[in-house]
Amino acid sequence: MDPQQHARAAELTRDPYPLYARARGAKGLTYVPEFGAWLVARDADVREVLRRPDVFSSANAVRGSARPSPAALAVLADGEGFSSRGGVVVTSDGLAHQRLRAPIVRGLGPARVAAALPFAVECAEALVDAFADKGRVELMEAYAMRLPGQVVGHVLGLDPADVPLVVRAGHRTEALLFRPLGEEEQLAAVHDMVAVKRLLDGYVCDRYAAPRDDLTSELVTSLATADDAEEGEPGLLTLAQRTELVAHLNNFLLAGHLTTTALIGTAFLHLLSNPDQWRMVCEEPERMIPAAIEETARFDTALQAFRRVTTRPATLAGTELPAGAELLVAFGAAGRDDARYPRPDVFDITRPAAARHVAFGLGAHACPGALLAREQMRLTLELFTRRFPGLRIAADAPEVTMRPSLIHRAPEALHLTW
Ligand code: HEM
Repeated sequence: MDPQQHARAAELTRDPYPLYARARGAKGLTYVPEFGAWLVARDADVREVLRRPDVFSSANAVRGSARPSPAALAVLADGEGFSSRGGVVVTSDGLAHQRLRAPIVRGLGPARVAAALPFAVECAEALVDAFADKGRVELMEAYAMRLPGQVVGHVLGLDPADVPLVVRAGHRTEALLFRPLGEEEQLAAVHDMVAVKRLLDGYVCDRYAAPRDDLTSELVTSLATADDAEEGEPGLLTLAQRTELVAHLNNFLLAGHLTTTALIGTAFLHLLSNPDQWRMVCEEPERMIPAAIEETARFDTALQAFRRVTTRPATLAGTELPAGAELLVAFGAAGRDDARYPRPDVFDITRPAAARHVAFGLGAHACPGALLAREQMRLTLELFTRRFPGLRIAADAPEVTMRPSLIHRAPEALHLTW
């Protein structure tokens, strides 16, 4: 993508809703050159694509739009063996996908999520205690970018001391793949990426040798089967297995913390931009917190869009697509479809049944972390409504801008006071 296209794509991603509206109103699908893809924006079309993974493959689901510089690629190549060549759940199809997905679904079931909650509450309280007496806070940095990494790290069994590197590398990975960074930033990103992959390789080897009661052990023991291990030295994982497991863990971490960080940000942005709705949540938390979470996910979801590619010629919304056609499947656009939601551009936590949105996907790739994400949102809103019922956007705060990202849509910063 050339710099001008990047700039135009960044503009579209900061506020994609006008583009979505045009695409929903147009006949057939709309091709968007800045994204190099056909935009799927109507709720019914999004659902159709997600229900037909045999025709709409996930192979390109998270294809980036920026090409790293030769020097950055050289650093990544140096981390060879721990590069992202291994298959990951979100970009695989069919049986390979089921094999990668099954242990994640088991590992994020209600029992494991419930077991992680006391730790999550403790972390959330500690983060809030650190700024509670200051009278104001920049929420993204002080809270939203911290809690989800701590929680997903805990579920995987990571040492808490390793979490800050993992979180920073996650943000830098996204930036490297989707934004035109300067050379210095690119090098900082790839050094972090290689460091995280080495770190995760240590966990993989350690848990293979001595499994514990954590999700890393579960992923390692279920994916590295005895049959595979016979190809290498007895008792040791092969390089191919390590590569796959490292990529798998890395993908899991990226999917687990960046998304939840983003949704915490948009939830506070929209609730506090509508103070009457914040009041409703404070007055009736039990009923209104779940409603606020679902309405935020419908109205301004974190994961706005992922890609698909056709495996054979197909027709969607009357548009004929050849094999190999790229689609941008916009979960965020489906949430604003007036064929499904009355007054879709209004944020309204009293609307009925917002829970039927597709913000957590649908079908074969539907989000296995939705429960963990919702629980973190719930405990966060419970904590903030209890501790800061007078919470509001600081009067002297700069105008809120959104990050130029379709996969982790969030405010760049959110200055709050109480
Ligand atoms: C607000 C938070 C979240 C949102 C909005 C979200 C959204 C989504 C969506 C829309 C998909 C489907 C992608 C597709 O169809 O290609 C997905 C997949 C996935 N999510 Fe989430 N997610 C969130 C949190 C989490 C968390 C907390 C975890 C893990 C701890 C997680 C792990 C995953 C994984 C592993 C996949 C890939 C599943 C597959 O390909 O089979 N997500 N997520």
